[in-house]
Amino acid sequence: MPDAQRTEEIDIEALEDVGANPDPRRPIGEVIAARYGRRSLLAAGAAAAAIAALPGDVPAQTVAPREGGPSTLTFPELRHRLAQTDAVAEGYERQVVIRWGDPVLPGAPPFDPRAVTEASQAKQFGYNCDYLDYFPLPMGSRTADHGLLVVNHEYTNTNLIFPGMGSGREARTRSSGPQTRAELMAHGLSVVEVKREGNAWSYVKDSPRNRRITGETPMRVAGPAAGAERMKTKDDPTGMRVLGTLNNCAGGNTPWGTVLTGEENTNYYFGGDPAKTPHQAIMRRYGIVNASLYNWWRHQDRFDVEKEPNESFRFGWVVEFDPYDPESVPVKRTALGRFKHEGATHAVSADGRVVIYSGDDERFEYVYKFVTARPWNPNDRAANRDLLDEGTLYAGKFLEDGKVEWLPLVFGQGPLTAANGFASQADVLIETRRAADLLGATPMDRPEDVETNPVNGRVYVMLTNNSRRTAQQAGGANPRPRNIHGHVLEIIPPGAGTDRVDHAATEARWALFIAAGKPGIDAGAQYHRATSDDGWLSCPDNCAFDSKGRIWIATDGAPANAGVADGLYAADTAGFGRALTRLFYQAPTGAEVCGPRFTPDDRTIFLAIQHPGEDAGSTFERPSTRWPDFAEGMPPRPSVIAIVRKDGGPIGD
Ligand code: FEO
Ligand code: CA
Ligand code: CA
Ligand code: CA
Repeated sequence: MPDAQRTEEIDIEALEDVGANPDPRRPIGEVIAARYGRRSLLAAGAAAAAIAALPGDVPAQTVAPREGGPSTLTFPELRHRLAQTDAVAEGYERQVVIRWGDPVLPGAPPFDPRAVTEASQAKQFGYNCDYLDYFPLPMGSRTADHGLLVVNHEYTNTNLIFPGMGSGREARTRSSGPQTRAELMAHGLSVVEVKREGNAWSYVKDSPRNRRITGETPMRVAGPAAGAERMKTKDDPTGMRVLGTLNNCAGGNTPWGTVLTGEENTNYYFGGDPAKTPHQAIMRRYGIVNASLYNWWRHQDRFDVEKEPNESFRFGWVVEFDPYDPESVPVKRTALGRFKHEGATHAVSADGRVVIYSGDDERFEYVYKFVTARPWNPNDRAANRDLLDEGTLYAGKFLEDGKVEWLPLVFGQGPLTAANGFASQADVLIETRRAADLLGATPMDRPEDVETNPVNGRVYVMLTNNSRRTAQQAGGANPRPRNIHGHVLEIIPPGAGTDRVDHAATEARWALFIAAGKPGIDAGAQYHRATSDDGWLSCPDNCAFDSKGRIWIATDGAPANAGVADGLYAADTAGFGRALTRLFYQAPTGAEVCGPRFTPDDRTIFLAIQHPGEDAGSTFERPSTRWPDFAEGMPPRPSVIAIVRKDGGPIGD
């Protein structure tokens, strides 16, 4: 979701935080002064002028790799810069695979920025691509040149989609009824068949495998909260059928080849006054107040909490679906809890049980994992169909001494009883955040991606930032007050580094991998000491691992006022080059980088370039960039890109 640090978002920042944990506990820590202020310091007018002065399509500079340096990564590092266009390290090539508005389904019209409608968006590639994944074709193979690209469409930038809306987030509250319908269709996911011929990637326009899932696609509800009283609405008296998935941020997959997509800031879509419903307290805890970010609730009754007080409980889940079957009905897996799921990634524990890690991305929220009750069955795909409906959800407690305790969210255990208002496991899951509060989980600095390194078995937690942490609250796994650049933690399960990692264990250790910001400038910044002036990063969000176990970190919220764009950085996780981050790709202005995903041969990395042109003062008519088309009248278009090495070799080697 848009990061709170951008200028246009300051006005509404209170809304971003209303769901925040009201009582984060207070570990004692050292007082450290951070140097940078809020990075959006410019007023909108000045910002627009600054943007107009950004370089357009000029060559990016790279620096030669250090001879004999400690990193195993050999690409020439890019230099930090802010520009209208993007850049990738020398020797590599970036290709645009699919853009917002490109036709996905048969009968989809070609993109016309003056005709963005419900009908066109329902069949075209949606907006603001985030999580992406590559599923080889045929299923079960490791084909690296033919597969299904699965992409989340997290949210919409109304000011850049429609003409005449003005700038900033407020544009979202100006959408007409038909425009809100188009926005709903621009949400959800896309599945598109992709092929590599020679070194060139493209997508297959009319493939029968292509699919659009939108904010209105029928879904099934499964697990302990299915059919619960609070899941029932006028349109769905069973509490088992929901229309659509929203604010799909990051995601993950399962060992049996299905998609897990996280519903993150779903509070943004609901309007009306929670005080006029029976659920004011829980709505507040989840950030629903009488001030919707969007205009949907004025035009579509189910998003008005006064008209439909239970609809919001039907969002904030992890949704599973089979990308290989375009007819498959997506399933909301309630056993995994309801919160702002950044994503959901899996690891297989030594005994075959599947563990799904997920961060709740808000200041002072928690890291979770779900452990299936049974092992998965590698020989019978159908046997795993409902594996995610039974198991235990845990919230993380990160102790000062480096220990992690996983606290089970089980109805009837500890404080999760009728005395605290829980009558069932459904109640515990619908109010996951309050249950984790009662257990004493550790409030973190906005947990985004949580992903397992397949080589060392460690789990990497992207903690993107937390400007509100005070000195009294800093320490342990969240060591810095006013943590505007974020950090990356490692969770080390028992057996990590062997071939029997116990991801299901209720205890682990944690370690700090990096503390972001500029070394020598930002107090507490911590990397390998050879990290260059261009290798430091800010606001880690998503990550991926290549088959050598090196981490590739995508950022969201780089300090534009320091001349730095968001990007993709790579580092070794072990050996002499551990934590030596290097800049590989730089995004166009306003954009964050999401969904890094390698093909099985490491020869392609796909990236989602989200919200290009999301700068203060940027409008449809005068955007801060027209990336990637740079055609007159064409707004910026969120797109999936593929990066390959010009000589076809593995990325990073
Ligand atoms: Fe949608 Fe947490 O970023
Ligand atoms: Ca995002
Ligand atoms: Ca994210
Ligand atoms: Ca983010």
